[in-house]
Amino acid sequence: MAAPGGAGPRLPLPALLLLLLAAGGAGARWAGRGTSPHLQSIFLGRCAEYRELLRPQLRDNNCTAIWEAFRAVLDKEPCSVLPSDYDLFINLSRHSIPQDKSLFWENNQFLVTSYAENTRRFMPLRDVLYGRVTDLLRWCRQEHASELDYQSCPTSEDCENNAVDSFWKRASMQYSTDSSGELHIMLNGSVPTGAYPVKGFFAEFEVPYFQKDKITRIEIWVMHEIGGPNLESCGEGTVKILEERLKEMGFQYSCINDYLPVKLLKCVDHSTHADCALHAAAASTLREVPSLYAGHGASLVIPLLVALAAGAQM
Ligand SMILES: *[C@@H]1O[C@H](CO)[C@@H](O)[C@H](O)[C@H]1NC(C)=O
Ligand SMILES: *[C@@H]1O[C@H](CO)[C@@H](O)[C@H](O)[C@H]1NC(C)=O
Ligand SMILES: *[C@@H]1O[C@H](CO)[C@@H](O)[C@H](O)[C@H]1NC(C)=O
Repeated sequence: MAAPGGAGPRLPLPALLLLLLAAGGAGARWAGRGTSPHLQSIFLGRCAEYRELLRPQLRDNNCTAIWEAFRAVLDKEPCSVLPSDYDLFINLSRHSIPQDKSLFWENNQFLVTSYAENTRRFMPLRDVLYGRVTDLLRWCRQEHASELDYQSCPTSEDCENNAVDSFWKRASMQYSTDSSGELHIMLNGSVPTGAYPVKGFFAEFEVPYFQKDKITRIEIWVMHEIGGPNLESCGEGTVKILEERLKEMGFQYSCINDYLPVKLLKCVDHSTHADCALHAAAASTLREVPSLYAGHGASLVIPLLVALAAGAQM
């Protein structure tokens, strides 16, 4: 990285290599990225923004107290953090999730974020205060020392009870418990290992906490990448496993392939692809909701699609 021909002392090449190895190897105790720089500022800033701009009804939440409850967990050894260690943090940051606004997902992170529209359209876990403050961040304490570890943090490969996984387990349980009305689940039918990971956060820490008495129905959307591959669809493979699980639990559910509003959002990045031509999209609408469009033909559908696409681009 240094500019060649600088004035500094020249190290012989082997010594330079050793230094580089030490710098790269010594800190990397764990497999995962280290604590995010500016963790506290980002956390507090997001908390304040959420409170002031997104949900003014949360003005009573004390972001400093929420941070302190979170920070206390970092006093524990990096592989000894349990989901229940976040109980106080969750207790202080928890708030209700509007009915019908819950959106569960696997393997669709950035699509979910843009479709949710910063809580305007849906409220996935990362748009709830306790998910928002840590979204995309990492954190852990050094082993046998009190400072945060900025070099590396354990992942599930290193140990089960690492700070980040335990956090998302606890947050997922709360999110699922507080979800009500119609639930939505966005899966990715282009993932080679299956759209519904049977050993994933959704399967293990969300589905088991669905509250039967508060949930009216469940809708699954299996999204495929534009141009494929279409590896799994409704009624197939792991999607079928999920459908049978929900049926056994006694839920009313339906499953839709390439749910049109989300597909249109994906098409914003693939506008010239044949799969995004409006007549193709219209055909998929006609398939999904025949009763609504039967008899009206494309004349009604096209203006609607244009309006939807314009909304998605805002
Ligand atoms: C917020 O919490 C902090 C830390 O617990 C406390 O010192 C402070 O007084 C609280 N502020 C309000 C307005 O309650
Ligand atoms: C969480 O809050 C509830 C009241 O809403 C209280 O009964 C409970 O003891 C609290 N739990 C913790 C861990 O602070
Ligand atoms: C869906 O999965 C495929 C294959 O793993 C991946 O390339 C793609 O980015 C995923 N789509 C989204 C929206 O995350």
